[in-house]
Amino acid sequence: MDEKLWQWFLDRIYYVQGDFADSAAYQRLKDQILAAEKAHNTRGNLFHYLAVAPKFFSPIVKKLGEVGLTLEQDGSWTHVIVEKPFGHDLESAIQLNKDLKETLREKQIYRIDHYLGKETVQNLMVFRFANGIFEPIWNRRYIDHVQITNAEALGVEGRGGYYDTAGVLRDMIQNHVFQVLSLVAMEPPISLGANAVRDEKIKAMQAVRPIPPDKVNEFVVRGQYTAGAVAGKHVPGYREEKDVAPNSQTDTYAALKLYFDNWRWADVPFYLRSGKRMPKRLTEIAIHFRKAPLQLFKSAQQEMEPNVLVIRVQPDEGITLRIGAKVPGQVTRIRWVNMDFRYGASFGVASPEAYERLLLDCILGDSTLYARRDMTERGWEIVMPILEAWANSKEEIPKYEAGTWGPKAADELMERDGREWRRP
Ligand code: BG6
Repeated sequence: MDEKLWQWFLDRIYYVQGDFADSAAYQRLKDQILAAEKAHNTRGNLFHYLAVAPKFFSPIVKKLGEVGLTLEQDGSWTHVIVEKPFGHDLESAIQLNKDLKETLREKQIYRIDHYLGKETVQNLMVFRFANGIFEPIWNRRYIDHVQITNAEALGVEGRGGYYDTAGVLRDMIQNHVFQVLSLVAMEPPISLGANAVRDEKIKAMQAVRPIPPDKVNEFVVRGQYTAGAVAGKHVPGYREEKDVAPNSQTDTYAALKLYFDNWRWADVPFYLRSGKRMPKRLTEIAIHFRKAPLQLFKSAQQEMEPNVLVIRVQPDEGITLRIGAKVPGQVTRIRWVNMDFRYGASFGVASPEAYERLLLDCILGDSTLYARRDMTERGWEIVMPILEAWANSKEEIPKYEAGTWGPKAADELMERDGREWRRP
């Protein structure tokens, strides 16, 4: 650590304590901000970062507005970062957007989704649109299906109180996984401008076929972990975690099959899964291509497998293309080998933390990597039939042992389609 730099930073940290509901606290905050502005010549520029429980987003913004802490004047800017979860369902997300708009202009609102700040997620656009060779095959003609896996080895890490009101569909899929999905499925944007990119993302998500409320079980699987072992260590079951109801029906795992009703993706299934207490931490996108049209090598002692392009978001960030190659020798035998790109080996520098990038973007006034209003609402729209079906279900939530890849039903979801989950 650079001691001098650290001291410089410490000299710029102030602390004001108060209750979110107490108007006097906001006045104290304002006084402190004005004093800091003078001391450090910040020219009235300001961002508020609401890393608080969601029920406080609206009241805090309102109170900030009342004391004039959301104004932009004389060329200065004021931005507000809103953490997730952005609402609890579609209705509350729409309400939250409305509440924020009473005090702020859309341009001032930064809805954070830290997955968008991850280098590998940003690289998705570079990979697709800076290389000429992938886009022509990025469609239903060449792609059989897509799998997006987001697995965590962690449990709820002391956040049982929050998590038990959320579940994985709200906590991970509706936001993080859908953001990644939209980058995989979108059309090329006309520019890298914040709106051009987000227009294409929302256009793709608008094409997601709604899940019929009476067929939720055909398209979606939920699960909850029981006690087990992760990385050789015994871990408690979800219901034994602190602040979790002993009969909780909250989902800690979900798998979904989605379709896009558009020309690029018609009839190509996208399988998404996310879960806690899986065998390891791993987020990846696997593009499974169609088999070669002619089985020339029938006698190659091996079933011909399709090519798979795997984009590893984390950890071990990189991209792998699985290809068939001839094993050296007299007879024709095929083995599946990998062409591999690793961030670590190629660039030799650690990627910045996602939040580092996003906070800087907020300061610079670039909201490209933040969720726009329509996207937050669309995410909820897609999952609402699922949330409603689960809330009304009388069935006990299926279980999976901690340290496994989810409930049996998730494998069956794939088997019914003659496919299987990639074993990372
Ligand atoms: C957060 C979720 O948004 O993302 C957590 O609330 C989850 O439950 C976390 O653990 C995962 O983030 P990452 O960057 O570790 O994949």
